[in-house]
Amino acid sequence: MLLWQLQRSPINDNLADSGDRCLLRSARKAGPPAIDYLGKTHDFGEDGLDQTYHVAEAQAVPACTVVIFGASGDLARRKLIPALYNLRACGENVGHREFAVLGFARRPIALDRFRDQMRDAVAKYSRLELDHSCWSDFAARLDYSGGLDQPDGFQRLRTRLEQLEAEHGLPPNRIYYLSIPPEAIKDAVMRLDQAGLIAKPGAPHFSRIVVEKPIGHDLESARQTNRAILGHFTESQIFRIDHYLGKETVQNLLILRFANTIFERMWGARNVDHVQITVAESEGVGTRAMYYDPAGALRDMVQNHVLQLLTLIAMEPPVSLEAEAVREAKLNLLRALRPVPLGQAANLVVRGRYGGGIVDGQQVSGYLEEHDIPKNSRTETFVAIKAFIDNWRWAGVPFYLRTGKRMGARESLIHIQFKEVPQILFNRNGALPENALTLRIQPDEGFSFGVLAKQPGLGVTIRPVRMNLRYQSEFEGPVPDAYERLLMDVMTGDHTLFVSAPFVEQSWAFIQSILDQWASDYSIPLNDYPAGTMGPGAADQLIQADGRHWLHL
Ligand code: BG6
Repeated sequence: MLLWQLQRSPINDNLADSGDRCLLRSARKAGPPAIDYLGKTHDFGEDGLDQTYHVAEAQAVPACTVVIFGASGDLARRKLIPALYNLRACGENVGHREFAVLGFARRPIALDRFRDQMRDAVAKYSRLELDHSCWSDFAARLDYSGGLDQPDGFQRLRTRLEQLEAEHGLPPNRIYYLSIPPEAIKDAVMRLDQAGLIAKPGAPHFSRIVVEKPIGHDLESARQTNRAILGHFTESQIFRIDHYLGKETVQNLLILRFANTIFERMWGARNVDHVQITVAESEGVGTRAMYYDPAGALRDMVQNHVLQLLTLIAMEPPVSLEAEAVREAKLNLLRALRPVPLGQAANLVVRGRYGGGIVDGQQVSGYLEEHDIPKNSRTETFVAIKAFIDNWRWAGVPFYLRTGKRMGARESLIHIQFKEVPQILFNRNGALPENALTLRIQPDEGFSFGVLAKQPGLGVTIRPVRMNLRYQSEFEGPVPDAYERLLMDVMTGDHTLFVSAPFVEQSWAFIQSILDQWASDYSIPLNDYPAGTMGPGAADQLIQADGRHWLHL
């Protein structure tokens, strides 16, 4: 990723030397002064000055082949193939991307048929429109092999892979993307190894593996999965994906915190009253009952996406921008996240399940009426948690986390509420609202800072106003999908936006402190909420009991 490239690209060798001055001038564009890595400003003429600071260019991608395990599945069609299509055929012009894609799944499918299916997927889900000549170029590098579950399947994969590489003059740099159920991971890595398909680190060509969530179902199974993968690949070859980390607004959290002075100085218990993280979805479980019902919202969203947001917003500044340093800073934060103490799950965690209701003007079914959901299911589709981070920076500051399906809005945000001003001068009766910084992760990407201002007039009237940045109005150009960013990082070997094995286990340790109590204390309720609302009333009480309230969406 961009930050890691700082240390790696030729440009960045200069940058590393120049320390804080590591700002490079970008392409010319109207705006305020640009600063280059020597700290000089540049005037670009009457109509304006360059405004952007390039930290790193997108890296050239080494020639390679991406093998998608589970190529007939939903993720491949909706995300992976469209992302690869955008990177290869019609991506922005940032370097030569020479790669082939090999679908690997159980069923035999004729190559033409597979290509047709993938073309339809690109037409439906790609960020860029399907362009016929781009598609032909991509399709010529798109192959398929069946037999994932057959005894000779991996030998056949190897033969196919070698043919594909020979046909396109590609070196045997291989990326295995496991978009398969977690219970199939162990077998897949073992068989890759047996088939001689894993180059060892230090070999002239690379073998990398990408693992999708869920990694495990609980702490113990996560450890087992990590061990199983590490039995065949080294950590440097493993890319555990959390697609939230590829979102532009999530990447921006580091820039916002560590490229600006004002926020970082206010960041912590001295100035912050509390933090809220909301990841609300309006979609229901859809066709994913088989996966979702054994999981539920806590495993599906909190263990990964929500905790990723939490660590990025709350971690200490990393000692450098190297992947290892960023991952270490995140892990340290998780280590300080207080597990929910025994007997406290009923007070600190609320779980809920959607019933029927109205979403976007449409009547929708409740969770128990959804396709393939067992009538006696006890799975939660909503969780709210009051969490604490036991370190000096955040001591005593509550972090309220909530996520759910079939909520009243699709909206992910982080809300940092600052402390009130002293009850003197304008705030003598303690009525002034506090400042707040609200970071909108999606869909209306941007952030706003709530401050107070004098309303013009002869009297003294104070009004809350918002300083608001909307990506849509501020930035031009395409916003790559999270999977494009992440797949490109796998190709270039950049781990910054991927999850380490200890992080996975540490996040499960927190989740496990809740799961254990849910499993043993039957008095903890599963609260119903109507679809189209912001979750059960108990989640409002969780925060209101502290004299606070959820940000209204
Ligand atoms: C996935 C979860 O990881 O993230 C889904 O399994 C969820 O249940 C999805 O809907 C949300 O992703 P996004 O990018 O739409 O916010």
